Amino acid sequence: MMNRAHDKSVESALRQLSEKGWVLIPGVYPEGLMKEVISEFNDFEQTFIDIQKKKGIADKVIDATHHTPVICRKMLKLLEHNKLHPILEAFFDGKYILNTMGLSKIRPGGEVYTQNIHRDVRSFHGAEKLWINTLIMLDDSTTENGATWVLEGSEHSPEKPDEETFFKHAVRAEGKAGDVLLFDGHIWHCAGENHSQKTRHIITPFFSKPFIKQQLDYPRAFGPDFGKSCSAHLKQVLGYNALTPVTLDDFYQTDENRFYQSDQG
Ligand SMILES: [Fe+2]
Repeated sequence: MMNRAHDKSVESALRQLSEKGWVLIPGVYPEGLMKEVISEFNDFEQTFIDIQKKKGIADKVIDATHHTPVICRKMLKLLEHNKLHPILEAFFDGKYILNTMGLSKIRPGGEVYTQNIHRDVRSFHGAEKLWINTLIMLDDSTTENGATWVLEGSEHSPEKPDEETFFKHAVRAEGKAGDVLLFDGHIWHCAGENHSQKTRHIITPFFSKPFIKQQLDYPRAFGPDFGKSCSAHLKQVLGYNALTPVTLDDFYQTDENRFYQSDQG
């Protein structure tokens, strides 16, 4: 059964999300964890660049890595149960899973594709709550180092705003390392320019209803044994309770053995 959250902070977060299209949740993660995550990422970044180069797309995805926790396992700590969970559960009115998650960085003066005005969900489907983007600030995000520009209310508009209108009305989502910016997948936004001396890192887990196809098959990527050994919360979030069977033998199951569990919506 869904545990309906009546907590005041959950209600106020959801209200701001529906009124403005975004909300900042402060202090979700300890700053020390943010530093650990960046340091582990620095150790493994070249692995991503090597694959991107091998596939001839390195110049298209500069400073962006995708499905990063498959290699940088400390990032899985970011998906464990925390104060975002009741907000996400209330937003989706039930269970949700990870759709995609990657790290991007903006170097001082650096250019990345997320600096173009865009929205994260390409198909515009109106008011249904199918997706939500959570932007984890690994470093403090300021107007100086490129805090995200967000055009409040633009989640209702299918047309991309022109640059002049966008930058005239958009606000900056500033926050501290460990804060999380929740925003509607339809909102028009972009990363800012980094005029500081230090690289700014963010991780953007994207969550969805469990029936939406993940951008990487996380349960297969991590393997069945991982699903048995991790926490029940992580198992749910990675999608182990919303699997697609391949054979009829897998499909016909008693309730507890179903690949796609009946509580997944
Ligand atoms: Fe984005």
